[in-house]
Amino acid sequence: MERDKFSRFGALVVIAGSAVGLGNIWRFPYMVATNGGAAFILLYIFFVLIICLPVMVAELSIGRRSRCNAYRALDKLSSAPAAKAAGRGFGLMYVLIPTLILSYYCVIGGSTVDYFLRACGITAHGGNGMQLLWTLIFLLLTAAVVAGGVKGGIEKFSKIMMPLLFIIVLLIALRSATLPATGSGWTARDGLDFMFRPDFSKLGFKSCLAALGQAFFSLSIGSGVLMTYGSYVNPKDKLFKTAGEIAFFDLLFAIIAGCAVIPAVFALEADPVNVLANNTDSRLVFNILPEVFPAMPLGKLIGAVFFFSLILAALTSSISQMEVPVSYLTEEKKLSRPLAVALVFVVAIAIGSACTLRGQVLNALDALCANWLMPLGGIAATVFVGWIMGFDELHDELSSRGLHKTGKLSSRIIHLLIRYIAPIGVLSVFLTQFFNLL
Ligand code: PFF
Repeated sequence: MERDKFSRFGALVVIAGSAVGLGNIWRFPYMVATNGGAAFILLYIFFVLIICLPVMVAELSIGRRSRCNAYRALDKLSSAPAAKAAGRGFGLMYVLIPTLILSYYCVIGGSTVDYFLRACGITAHGGNGMQLLWTLIFLLLTAAVVAGGVKGGIEKFSKIMMPLLFIIVLLIALRSATLPATGSGWTARDGLDFMFRPDFSKLGFKSCLAALGQAFFSLSIGSGVLMTYGSYVNPKDKLFKTAGEIAFFDLLFAIIAGCAVIPAVFALEADPVNVLANNTDSRLVFNILPEVFPAMPLGKLIGAVFFFSLILAALTSSISQMEVPVSYLTEEKKLSRPLAVALVFVVAIAIGSACTLRGQVLNALDALCANWLMPLGGIAATVFVGWIMGFDELHDELSSRGLHKTGKLSSRIIHLLIRYIAPIGVLSVFLTQFFNLL
């Protein structure tokens, strides 16, 4: 059977859907607020250009060239027995990472469902049992899309939901940035100033780690998702252009989300700088915003629409996480798609239940995946493309097998970044974390 292929627009929205998620809306605004505003944004752009974009190209190339699931991809592209065996080992890791991420991401996704219903006035705050119910509902929504298949489920869903998500967050940002002053002494404009005025004195080594870690998580790098989705990208599409557009859109979305959150906190909270500095990621979105929104004109409606947009953003990411193990199970274990989806569902809800009962499990899984496994996955992909696959194959892939005129010089630069800069950059982050642990 011929493998499914995304349309060009489909590839953009589906891969951007994986990138744009809770990370953009709940973590990015907080990081910008605590790391010197635009100074952090500039640092983030620098890391995206010299490290993340090359890794994205490496992972998408592996996926598109092998045209198979993340477990088999490296094995299929290698010829030496040792490289093939290592490829299968890393392949297993690429299937494991998104499965683990899905298991805790669906718990936070469940919270977005909970807060949306509360903002609509339908439910009140519940305990652990209710949390599990919301997680289950969120996971069922994810499973329904993935069970619909690559084109009929994932691509169709993303083509409608991503433009909708973008419009909603843009409208909320416009509302938030033009809020009238409420007498606290601060205005929405001060919030925009705070976000866009670079304060380089706040940038330290920790900000570098934070920027790179955030960029990796946000762009879903090193997780097996880009390889899997890359295998559905049309062989005729320009790979570097696609990767660049996705990275650009992901950043744009994060900045717009910042404009939705930060000016609102400034206009409506008495001590905004402290509120932003002291409420780490999830607390900012789940504790502060539900207080902030109702204080605006039409606030109840805006609050409900905001949490609806969070559900959409989380869903387009969780379907990408689920597709990786599902494509592995359908291709390697020959399971039917519905059965594969059911199996991943059971594993995710089992681990997810532990996360709803104990917050530490969720934090530990997040730290394991985002700080260790994803950087390791990113290094493995760059070493493979930079050192094993080599320049000629990469150039062939970047020019869509000779279909487009791609200058050898630009391919050379990308190859050099993939071969040296990206793995060294990620390795240094990795080692710093390691020594911090000791
Ligand atoms: N990029 C998503 C976000 O910013 O929320 C999270 C994510 C999706 C991480 C898919 C990893 C992944 F494989």
